[in-house]
Amino acid sequence: MKKKALVLIHGFPFDSSMWDEQKAFLKNFCDVHAPDLPGFGESKISACSSIEDFAKFIKQYVEEEKLGRVILCGFSMGGYIAFAFYEMFPQFVEALIFADTRAKDDSPEGKKGRDLAIRNAEICGTDFFVENMPEKLLSKENLENDLILSKVKSIISKQKKESIINALIAMRERKDRSFLLQKIDIPSLFICGEKDILSTPEEMREMSEAVKNSRFEIVKDAGHLSNIENSSQFNTILLDFLK
Ligand code: MLT
Repeated sequence: MKKKALVLIHGFPFDSSMWDEQKAFLKNFCDVHAPDLPGFGESKISACSSIEDFAKFIKQYVEEEKLGRVILCGFSMGGYIAFAFYEMFPQFVEALIFADTRAKDDSPEGKKGRDLAIRNAEICGTDFFVENMPEKLLSKENLENDLILSKVKSIISKQKKESIINALIAMRERKDRSFLLQKIDIPSLFICGEKDILSTPEEMREMSEAVKNSRFEIVKDAGHLSNIENSSQFNTILLDFLK
């Protein structure tokens, strides 16, 4: 029997290698796809400056790979893209997984933060994000874990300044898609690191409660990067859902 296709959409400022542990673990159970978004990782095209354009890229990928209806899993910025994809192309989605993300747009405060981040990218380049993002992304404990910290810094250091700026513009301009929560009528899963300070467990639980028949799971001992910080629990949650 043909295995179901799972498409993993990475976050910011990362690339598909953030999913290495999931790709290795899930490959026997489903047909796992983790494309590099435009501008990131090995991608040869420029980064999009709108979330809708990132979603169109995923649609093109799904069509070119002839995947049919997919299980779409988005982490953080990848979750913003998954919401947009579901709004624009629901006929391509069989189930949805949202990890450490939100349906809402940026608050006025959040938009100011994006402007500042864009300025920092223009002045200091990618290094600014290598040095300053880990403390927001990882739990205090994992910030002390050399293996995790060096993996996170190494992925960020490979990303281009121009792509970082475009993605920041895309996130700043994205629209509020909370209205979609009531409309989701396919199986869905919401996952959140218990110590995530960027998209908190409370916020993600609320989103999950707004969706019919959805599942909400907390990843222990993890901050925002739940799939890297506690990959074994994250993988088990994913596999249970896929089954
Ligand atoms: C991400 O992990 O993709 C980003 O933290 C998302 C964001 O900055 O809103």
